[in-house]
Amino acid sequence: SNTLTILGIESSCDDTAAAILRVPDDGAPQILAQTVQGQGQLHADFGGVVPEIAARAHAEKLDICVAEVLRDAVLGLQGMDAIAVTAGPGLIGGVMSGVMCAKGLATGAGLPLIGVNHLAGHALTPRLTDGVAYPYLMLLVSGGHCQFLRVGGPQDFTRLGGTIDDAPGEAFDKTARLLGLPQPGGPSVEAEAALGDPARHAFPRPMLDRPGCDMSFSGLKTAILRARDAIVADKGGLTRQDRRDLCAGFQAAMQDVLAEKTRRALAACPDLGVIAVAGGVAANEAIRGALMGVAEAAGVRFVAPPLALCTDNAAMIAYAGAELYRAGQRDDMTLSARPRWPL
Ligand code: KG4
Ligand code: ZN
Repeated sequence: SNTLTILGIESSCDDTAAAILRVPDDGAPQILAQTVQGQGQLHADFGGVVPEIAARAHAEKLDICVAEVLRDAVLGLQGMDAIAVTAGPGLIGGVMSGVMCAKGLATGAGLPLIGVNHLAGHALTPRLTDGVAYPYLMLLVSGGHCQFLRVGGPQDFTRLGGTIDDAPGEAFDKTARLLGLPQPGGPSVEAEAALGDPARHAFPRPMLDRPGCDMSFSGLKTAILRARDAIVADKGGLTRQDRRDLCAGFQAAMQDVLAEKTRRALAACPDLGVIAVAGGVAANEAIRGALMGVAEAAGVRFVAPPLALCTDNAAMIAYAGAELYRAGQRDDMTLSARPRWPL
């Protein structure tokens, strides 16, 4: 048996992260150390991630994160077999910072460099956490992504469909902003929705009338805006219960669309025995419950990795790096940072 020890680096959005994994070729991977430094506070006043601010924060934090995981794992760079880094897609300044950091470390220590697609990192996470065997169906639902993938190997992804506009997390965040609820919007909308009446508003379920697994969420956000404005015009403001009912109606629509499209994705891949989810929106209990119900009805296993590994992290990048290393991938100083990089 042969074990790889890999340093992973992630900096494609608003989390600076590093991790060290030990990945045997015939057993469960072990996370020796990991750290995630969020930037939420830095962007809080701007209503979204500011690319320039994110890039600077990554450049300032990357070396600190790497030093921290090396110290926690009680290992030096000479104890690594390779360095894996997110090379895209994402905010280019952040991705460049990570790639430059990884190139410096790899050159200095004479180690192989592996460029990893951030989405592949998310998509392979069920193998890291639950040892899921290929092939399986993956639903990525986060603030930046929404897609169904058939995962057949570390370099074998088939996109079955996805959002044609906003990502679900983005819709949660915008809904929260429209209703004056705190960011990130997902958890605050979920908490309000739990106390609301989902039947008060009949919000649209976009694209359910069309075949396939594509989705659209921007119309839903507009519907919330209209419903809010109608209540305000009528009563001069929103009560606590109005807010709860709007959240409940929004979440119910979201849940129905994701559940129905998941049903279709599973029907399109009758050979798959597992559906796995990743991304911050998979933390939503109502949505998670609906997806679990769809999986059960289809007779497939439902896998939801622990939240800390569902959202952006470097353990998933190190893990994907290990699989890519075993598949023969090696990068060099020509590795470039890519803002767009479809799987
Ligand atoms: O995966 P993630 O941490 O970051 C990326 O987008 O890459 O996902 C963050 C998104 C945010 O939009 C947040 O509002 C959403 O996930 N989110 C949720 C919940 N927790 C986080 N959405 C719905 N319900 C939740 N409980
Ligand atoms: Zn992500």
